[in-house]
Amino acid sequence: MNNRILVTGGAGYIGSHTTIALLQAGYDVVIADNFSNSERWIPDRISTLSGHVVQCHELDLRNHAATLECLHQVRPDGVIHFGALKSVGESIANPLHYYQNNVTGTLNLLDAMQHIGCNNLVFSSSATVYGYPDRCPISEDAALHAINPYGRTKLMMEQAIEDIGTSSPGFHAAVLRYFNPAGAHDSGQLGELPRGAPNNLVPFVAQVAAGLRPEVKVFGGDYKTPDGTGIRDYIHVMDLAQAHVHALEYLRDRKQGLVVNLGTGSGYSVIEIIDAFSRASGRQIAYQITDRRPGDADACYADPSLAEKLLGWRASRGLDTICADAWRWQIHLQQN
Ligand code: UD1
Repeated sequence: MNNRILVTGGAGYIGSHTTIALLQAGYDVVIADNFSNSERWIPDRISTLSGHVVQCHELDLRNHAATLECLHQVRPDGVIHFGALKSVGESIANPLHYYQNNVTGTLNLLDAMQHIGCNNLVFSSSATVYGYPDRCPISEDAALHAINPYGRTKLMMEQAIEDIGTSSPGFHAAVLRYFNPAGAHDSGQLGELPRGAPNNLVPFVAQVAAGLRPEVKVFGGDYKTPDGTGIRDYIHVMDLAQAHVHALEYLRDRKQGLVVNLGTGSGYSVIEIIDAFSRASGRQIAYQITDRRPGDADACYADPSLAEKLLGWRASRGLDTICADAWRWQIHLQQN
């Protein structure tokens, strides 16, 4: 594999941070994004922060002809595929939209890759494929059961990718199962841009700390955890970004695929997150325990040892850095 990488969804939260890491590692990166959940100024910000120019194609992966044309033009050596929707609640309310974007879009991309003979894929999967995990820490051989349409789209695409690998021996995919991405670029100039009320905990807590919302609603205080609130594995988005650089190197050097968890191996409860954010921001953060959110597990944290063994990668930033960077980004958003 050579140097040119197409990053679908490269203007999104994880995609934009990964694009910076790729540019800094010397890759020639082209972004393809339909900007359905991102802003048009993000590619310029990526160029400024990385010190390298990034090209950008506006592309909706649901459009098969346009996807084919884009891949013919870009001729990437590898593709990192972030371009998908990620809200569980939205996927239950509008499953067709999720199947169209996450399944049809991915199949169109895979087809276009096959057309141009591009054989290296890094696929954004999620810990959501473990459903309610049987045990923690979760290793990659744990049972898979998706419990909502979003999860099913991820699991189906993992399976499609495996089938393509079987039928085309030259095709290799790194399937990366993310735990809970959080935090922001340490410049404070790039981070998550939730539209409306954030679904995820860390951006919601940041908005409460900033005084934009009155309190955090803690979804359930009666889970089987030490303080009764849900435990998750929060991983810094820049650690996650770096793992993609390692995954590309793995595909290039080993010429084989892999499926790995990307997490830290440490779990924190909702209350621990609120406390850590309060320390990082120096603000009081009001919260109230409310009903459970349907579909939430008691605890979900990774066994990250396979990623360390295969990729030589492990997360290096802890919870305090996640909160400090998320807070710096929140302040930046309010001042600009
Ligand atoms: C969620 C998705 C998961 C997806 C991931 C992507 C669900 C059920 N799961 O993971 O499929 O891959 O986002 O980022 O939506 N919480 C609160 N109050 C809030 C928000 C969250 O108490 O306002 C709690 C949740 O109950 C959970 C923890 O905080 O215990 C983390 O929640 P969240 O950030 O939404 O992530 P997940 O649910 O783990």
